[in-house]
Amino acid sequence: MGENKVIELYSDGDFDTNETGNRSLNSIVAERYSRRQTVKSALVASSTAFLGTTLLAACGDDDGVDRAGNATVNAGEAVTTSAGRVVAINGTFQGNGTVAVTQTGGPSVALTGADSAMPSFIAPSVDSPTTLTFRLTATGANGNQTFSDATVTVTPAQLGFTPVAKNKIDRVTIPESYSVGILTRLGDPIAAAVSTYSNNGTDANFDQRIGDHGDALYYYGLSASGAREDMSNTRGLLVQNHENLNIQYLHPNGPTVVNGARPAAEAIKEIEAHGVSVVEVRDAGNRDWSYVQNSPFNRRITPNTPVVFNGPVRGSPLLRTVADPTGTVGTGTINNCANGHTNWATNLTCEENWAFYFRRDNSGAGTDNAIRTPRELTGLRRYGINSSTGNYLWSTAGNDPVFQRWDARAKGAGPLEDYRYEPNKFGWVVEFDPYNPQSAPRKRTALGRIAHEGAWLGKLTPGQKVAVYQGDDSRGEYLYKFVSDANWAAADAQASDRLAIGDKYLDTGTLYVARFDQDGTGTWLPLVFGQVPNRPAVGSTPEYVFESQADVLINTRLAADAVGATPMDRPEWTATNPANGEIYLTLTNNSASVRTLQNTDAANPRHYNDPKVRPGFDDSDPNSPTSDQRGNPNGHIIRLRENGDNPAATSFNWDIYLFGANATASLANVNLSGLTDINDFSSPDGLWFSRPTNAAGAGQRPLAWIQTDDGAFTDVTFNQMLAGLPGRVGDGTTRTITNTNASGETEQQTTIVGEQASAANLRRFLIGPNEAEITGVDSTPDGRTLFVGIQHPGEDGEPDDPSSNWPANQDGPAPGARPRSAVVFVTKNDGGVVGL
Ligand code: FEO
Ligand code: CA
Ligand code: CA
Repeated sequence: MGENKVIELYSDGDFDTNETGNRSLNSIVAERYSRRQTVKSALVASSTAFLGTTLLAACGDDDGVDRAGNATVNAGEAVTTSAGRVVAINGTFQGNGTVAVTQTGGPSVALTGADSAMPSFIAPSVDSPTTLTFRLTATGANGNQTFSDATVTVTPAQLGFTPVAKNKIDRVTIPESYSVGILTRLGDPIAAAVSTYSNNGTDANFDQRIGDHGDALYYYGLSASGAREDMSNTRGLLVQNHENLNIQYLHPNGPTVVNGARPAAEAIKEIEAHGVSVVEVRDAGNRDWSYVQNSPFNRRITPNTPVVFNGPVRGSPLLRTVADPTGTVGTGTINNCANGHTNWATNLTCEENWAFYFRRDNSGAGTDNAIRTPRELTGLRRYGINSSTGNYLWSTAGNDPVFQRWDARAKGAGPLEDYRYEPNKFGWVVEFDPYNPQSAPRKRTALGRIAHEGAWLGKLTPGQKVAVYQGDDSRGEYLYKFVSDANWAAADAQASDRLAIGDKYLDTGTLYVARFDQDGTGTWLPLVFGQVPNRPAVGSTPEYVFESQADVLINTRLAADAVGATPMDRPEWTATNPANGEIYLTLTNNSASVRTLQNTDAANPRHYNDPKVRPGFDDSDPNSPTSDQRGNPNGHIIRLRENGDNPAATSFNWDIYLFGANATASLANVNLSGLTDINDFSSPDGLWFSRPTNAAGAGQRPLAWIQTDDGAFTDVTFNQMLAGLPGRVGDGTTRTITNTNASGETEQQTTIVGEQASAANLRRFLIGPNEAEITGVDSTPDGRTLFVGIQHPGEDGEPDDPSSNWPANQDGPAPGARPRSAVVFVTKNDGGVVGL
């Protein structure tokens, strides 16, 4: 499906053409003549380059062809490049015979075109300038051999693309010399005999189609024989979460309600469009990717897929319902947002905004408040389970449990007669094995129950604990860490029963929540029954007394309140710097009502205004009327380093890697990272470091990819993805800023700002179509294909008047086409590592 899929072996822009030593032409000519006398066979013990080609030809016949059967080769000029780039040795071959190239020094590379004078390779990861040497040997038809040595100097990875200018173009825009193709889209059939998606609202059968609102994704390699092969770059399983719906486009004229009820067929489509997809993808050659419709690996995990509960909450009375009197099994997963992957090759899909799918009617006529205990009401309130209808009104669609389970009101004589505890079955990290479509996903209750954005493993070290870092995405929520009881054993990475390895590391351990202190240190506070104090009364909400570890885990937020965790500006993705193990966390934004002028802190230091041009006015006109956006509307990215680099540490150091801001905002108080036109952004959400299996992720400064889910900055640009080269915790300075609220009151706040942004360490790489967020990113192990998720293009449009036509319009206008969330693959035209 790709276009412009060109592999160019030679990239003139990638290397320095300065001649080694700047020798004079005369000295080169002199050397050529002298060398010629000695170069007669491969046994010649010459270590210097044989430089003459033209001159040798001149010594032969006038037409330049040596009819004696000699052949000569010249390695050309020394090359300087940086890690991950395609390097071409620009040699020349002349005469009658063959040429062969072998590497004679430096880190080993895979040569393409080793039977020519112009071989190429991808420059390896290096930590300092490193020389690679190659010998080009020509063998004439007469058996005589000559050779010439090439020298390539490789410097550490650097950003290697032209930043994409901010824009509001309804398609995916990428840097020059890159290509983008569409891989999977909402509704694409992933089983044999399922029809092509008509994209007019008539399609059904979403448990065999790609779901909606594709979010986090991860690529799992497959061998030619269909086995797990982590390093495969040409065949794999793409696992993607499906968080939510652009419901208006799923039905011919949008969703309907008939006599107060949702038609069952509509509700089933919507339910099945949530969850996770596993789809086989293949490279047809030169990174031209497509998915395999009838692969036996293809799978949809939906809200209706049987799952099991593991960990301390398994069997708890608080998990029991009319459908599951044991509290050990459940049905499906929902609102799957960010993710994690494990070193034993499973996937962690995370349930984020599950609370709003349930009908509960906290204060309306249908409320069950009188039947609920005060403890239950406290938990329901803390998680926001109070909707009078539940998202999309699914519980109105019929008496089938598929619909009734979304009505969480206490209606029966006890919990085993209704679905009052069904919400307790959501909010978990769910582990599944992408290589085994038959295996039931396992909900890992030891990791806690929150609005789970994601669950990313820290760097694993044999003999140390396994740590999993998790954001709880709501305003003023917390950052969590789970630490396994078991120490990591490297052999477990290749175990065949992958979910059993998950049992070992993810079912027993300790959950912690983070407190960020003003001095740049922080503490992990354990959420352990017996150690967690009672959660104090808040307003009319009474004190909460924990009764068990299962209670602590089901009501994780209450326990975190009780121990004094630091409320953050909406914790989204976590990511682990593969070089140094530091943990990064996006804090997407916060409102003025939560992050008030008075309650900023060092880790959430800003309260300011980012005026936004009002809809309908010219965004580029500085005189256009604006609306205030106060609080921390643009978000920031915090990072931490565990004490002693130990995943089980209970203390850490932190600083703020980047502050989102408009480049024009106050450098003193708002644009604290010094963003400019080429890298200003707002509302960071997706966050991922390049894999350490290629030059983008293997060096001392691996690439960090930042994706935005922004509403504040959309008067300036559509959502975007940037690539950065972060340093480390503590590479910046302490700063004191002045915050200002709507009344003009000011307060000072001290914070810790990382290294300033620059063109060298942060650039805009991609911009999405209208009303889309960018979320979900991974690469092939070689880093030469980047997979990126584009979620909810045209989310504010109408079925008959879509506000985006993407992806149908990626290569040209497609008026009227309904937008579809999709995964794109981005490649560098010369075949180099993406981003470098
Ligand atoms: Fe689903 Fe917090 O993004
Ligand atoms: Ca997200
Ligand atoms: Ca989001």
